[in-house]
Amino acid sequence: MRTPLIAGNWKMNGSTELVEAFGRTFSSAALPSSLEAAIFPPYPYLEAARRAFAETPLRLGAQTLNPLHSGAHTGEVSGRMLREFGVCYALVGHSERRQLYRESDEQVHDRLLAALGVDITPVLCVGETLEERDAGHTMQVVLRQVGYVMARLEPEQRERVIIAYEPVWAIGTGRTATPEQAQEVMAGIRDYQAGFDRDLAAALRLLYGGSMNAGNAAELLAQPDIDGGLVGGASLKVDDFLAICQSAG
Ligand code: G3P
Repeated sequence: MRTPLIAGNWKMNGSTELVEAFGRTFSSAALPSSLEAAIFPPYPYLEAARRAFAETPLRLGAQTLNPLHSGAHTGEVSGRMLREFGVCYALVGHSERRQLYRESDEQVHDRLLAALGVDITPVLCVGETLEERDAGHTMQVVLRQVGYVMARLEPEQRERVIIAYEPVWAIGTGRTATPEQAQEVMAGIRDYQAGFDRDLAAALRLLYGGSMNAGNAAELLAQPDIDGGLVGGASLKVDDFLAICQSAG
């Protein structure tokens, strides 16, 4: 059985008040027993979140990390530093990083390796643009992004990676992939992994991201190859995020 994960990516949003509201709500919330839930706040809120979430099931994630441990890299934060704040997961290759900050597959790979090196679970984000989908290139694009990284890892490293499929056209648009569209791509990712190792493919955790909300989460999460969600906008509303977590049982 794969443990479901609901991850809330706050992006460049949030506040100390929001951190505290999540701490209060989740300290008494009833969640499915097998669920992992995590919030990925902007860096300045990590320490406040660590304290506010201490008595909750919420874990902490980071939205990116620099591949190096330290050095003259103004504005950057290393995995080793994130680890000190109790960060368990890190996104790598989010489409906003790929598009707005020109992160290449090679840089995504380097960040992912850095996360593994400090015992942070990387969440590798992949997904096609609308143009790529309309041109019929969805699987080709997604498997290139997955393959570039996975093919360069050792088998024991592959086991520690979570993959999030986030179609770019569904991010922040309110236009969710249908459960069938998401399932099709995610089954394709699992099949690809089976080429390395069938057991690894069966254990691989796959998250869907892209306008997931309290109303559509249950149907998406019911798909056989969807093991959780990477939630943006709806993770900024504590009741909505809680409802999504509760639908993942
Ligand atoms: O990483 C989460 C994400 O990109 C999806 O954002 O706002 O469409 O849920 P949203």
